[in-house]
Amino acid sequence: MRASDIEADLTEVLCTEDEIHAKLGELARRIEADYEGRDLLLVGVLKGAIMVMADLARELERHVQTDWMAVSSYGAGTVSSGVVRILKDLDSDLSGRHVLIVEDIIDSGLTLSWLLSNLRTRGAASVEICALFRKPEALKVHVDVKYVGFDIPNKFVVGYGLDFAEKYRNLRDVGVLAPHVYS
Ligand code: XMP
Ligand code: MG
Repeated sequence: MRASDIEADLTEVLCTEDEIHAKLGELARRIEADYEGRDLLLVGVLKGAIMVMADLARELERHVQTDWMAVSSYGAGTVSSGVVRILKDLDSDLSGRHVLIVEDIIDSGLTLSWLLSNLRTRGAASVEICALFRKPEALKVHVDVKYVGFDIPNKFVVGYGLDFAEKYRNLRDVGVLAPHVYS
């Protein structure tokens, strides 16, 4: 299968790999300034955030520590259930640490709102969020996201770590999945 066969399942490309990297560079400069003189723990949310975490961490020209959590709010479908389960917890103790949650996308906001309050009960000095994508029209709860890459339309998107039924994570760009693929 060629890359173009994956692209054929999209109705449009929203962000190219180059645009994503440029945006992560901008966010990295802000994060460097905001956390100057403080240790920083990046917490990636598996599995969607794998690419954002890898690229953001390498954009940062400073030491960071990394850890991962896996939570689930979706089955194989495309609509949030609002039910969050921890599938893999952090290895790190958060006491006194500055934590930045690294997430692929904020849709209804239910997952991140739950995660934020969960991590804030663990004694961290601060907990903030960096999300590459946000769908403003889909938000059901208010979530304070300090670093946002792109606001996008309320459509199901794939690529750059974002999946449909575990496929499309390896697509370099991010695009809208054609309805014929999932309906
Ligand atoms: P909520 O609705 O809780 O959802 O903010 C957050 C999680 O849902 C997944 N998600 C998506 N995954 N394309 C995807 O591949 C999308 O358009 C999409 N919208 C939400 C994602 O895992 C995110 O962390
Ligand atoms: Mg996710």
